[in-house]
Amino acid sequence: MKTQFNTTNQRPSMASLDMQVFTGLAHTMQTAAIAALIFVAVTFAPKLKRRIQLARIPVFATSKGAVQSTRGMFQEGYQKFKDSVYMIITPDGEDSVIIPTALMPELRKLPDDVLSFPKAVERLMEVEYTKIATEAKLAVHAIKSDLTPALSRLNATISDEVDAAMRQYLPSCDDWTELDINRKLIDIVTRISGRVFVGPELCQDPEYLDIGANYTIYLMDAIRAIKRLRPWQKPFLAHRLPEMKKLRAIEKRAAEQLRPIVKERLEAEKNDPNWQKPEDMMQWLINRNAGAIPADEIAHVQLGLIFAAIHTTTTTATNILYTLAVTPECMDPLREEIRNAMNENGGQLTSKALQQMLKLDSYMKEVIRVHALSVSSFMRRVVKGITLSNGQYLPPGVMIEVPGDAVYSDEAFYPSPNTFDPWRSSDIRQSGTPTDHARNQFVTTNETNLLFGYGRHACPGRFFAANEIKLILARLILDYEIKMPNGESERYANIEIGRSIIPAPGKTIMLKRVEI
Ligand code: HEM
Ligand SMILES: *[C@@H]1O[C@H](CO)[C@@H](O)[C@H](O)[C@H]1NC(C)=O
Ligand SMILES: *[C@@H]1O[C@H](CO)[C@@H](O)[C@H](O)[C@H]1NC(C)=O
Ligand SMILES: *[C@@H]1O[C@H](CO)[C@@H](O)[C@H](O)[C@H]1NC(C)=O
Repeated sequence: MKTQFNTTNQRPSMASLDMQVFTGLAHTMQTAAIAALIFVAVTFAPKLKRRIQLARIPVFATSKGAVQSTRGMFQEGYQKFKDSVYMIITPDGEDSVIIPTALMPELRKLPDDVLSFPKAVERLMEVEYTKIATEAKLAVHAIKSDLTPALSRLNATISDEVDAAMRQYLPSCDDWTELDINRKLIDIVTRISGRVFVGPELCQDPEYLDIGANYTIYLMDAIRAIKRLRPWQKPFLAHRLPEMKKLRAIEKRAAEQLRPIVKERLEAEKNDPNWQKPEDMMQWLINRNAGAIPADEIAHVQLGLIFAAIHTTTTTATNILYTLAVTPECMDPLREEIRNAMNENGGQLTSKALQQMLKLDSYMKEVIRVHALSVSSFMRRVVKGITLSNGQYLPPGVMIEVPGDAVYSDEAFYPSPNTFDPWRSSDIRQSGTPTDHARNQFVTTNETNLLFGYGRHACPGRFFAANEIKLILARLILDYEIKMPNGESERYANIEIGRSIIPAPGKTIMLKRVEI
């Protein structure tokens, strides 16, 4: 058997060595090699074991970095492996198994101790350093059991807040006016969400609005900065990054602002028998918490809500407005539908009126089908090994995700997928069965509708988000004409970074108030 030392290019130097030295050296090197092997085996055993277990799953691609778009890669993978699983190596160096839609139902109900959402978020969000809350149980309960059921009861309150926010942030637009619509939407959405999260006073407070609008940006900046460090540097350097200092500073401001409010409300409840509990998330969190976590922690939960709610909603609404500016033919049908729904509901944008706006709902859904926010959805970490129905095994530790964006352009689910058909869903809802009616909404989550995720952790805030976006759009469509600046007719291209696909920030559209 040939050893490394027998290769031709090493022979000249070897020849000059004394035989004894040579054998000694060879021995030393052998020992070193064995030691290295043992080291590798001990250090990487779990990973190695996982690799062996994953050997039957083809590796399709290795990520070239966190910034480069993965959209093309996911689309190619979808064409190639449509109904089977395959693997990619992510920028974090993780093995991530891509699951086809057909296998999703069997994973849908698995609990977190088998297939974990928080554990997937941990590495993605660098939780060890950012310390954001991954256990969103309190917030999720309050959203599902308090906020969503309150939407119809609070319909006038929310609708009035939308009007107030639009009056505050949009100029009069008596003539065509150019606006950075994404910027405006951040402010508008922060105020409306604030009304529901912290109540009528705080949602107009400049300090709260500033925190609401900037927290997510600071958090994402911090995560990106941490990911630029080498793994061994993170424990030493992460906390010293300027981005992390900014994040800690804004968290401190949030705690300082919110802590006294929690205390005040706890006091009022104890001491004032006539005290009326406000109807907002702050109060629902306090009610559900029953003193289990301290006031500071409630502020932490509020920041989690800001992160989950504001930029997601703004990005979605921006996508829709960028498209609305290049589909003027849709304005009249939408406006007519909105007017009719209002007329049938006492001239108000009530919850019932919003439910009657099938075309608006369909338009929103179609924009997101074409402009998904992320190439992948349903990111989870396997905690206990799972054997799929096709016989393949997912070992503990591995990540899974599904190609949500590629699914949106699959002909099998969406006929003529390359056509933007604004009434795709409303046509199905109008002509189909009650089941079709229920299954083709903007808030629908299923294997082919992954905007809001899937399964146990599917976005609990989607009913509120859909309501809020519809109210904003209804007001804009009723009260304004919308067009692109400088006579342009092409939609602004979205930006692709890693797994994200976002509308380009800082772009402008033109608004002009409709004359009545
Ligand atoms: C259009 C706007 C929104 C989008 C696109 C969106 C999207 C998502 C997605 C994709 C997930 C992960 C689901 C999964 O992996 O299965 C999620 C989770 C979550 N979202 Fe939303 N979301 C939006 C608005 C909101 C709002 C307004 C709230 C709060 C009122 C909210 C609260 C949450 C929470 C608390 C979770 C974590 C759920 C859990 O841990 O079980 N989201 N959202
Ligand atoms: C929605 O608001 C209206 C007032 O605009 C109110 O009369 C109605 O009761 C509210 N809807 C529900 C279901 O509570
Ligand atoms: C928050 O963002 C706005 C707009 O970018 C900016 O004007 C403001 O100064 C920011 N606030 C802080 C505290 O950085
Ligand atoms: C999933 O959603 C699509 C579109 O909203 C709908 O047409 C389809 O029937 C749904 N599938 C299931 C299994 O619910």
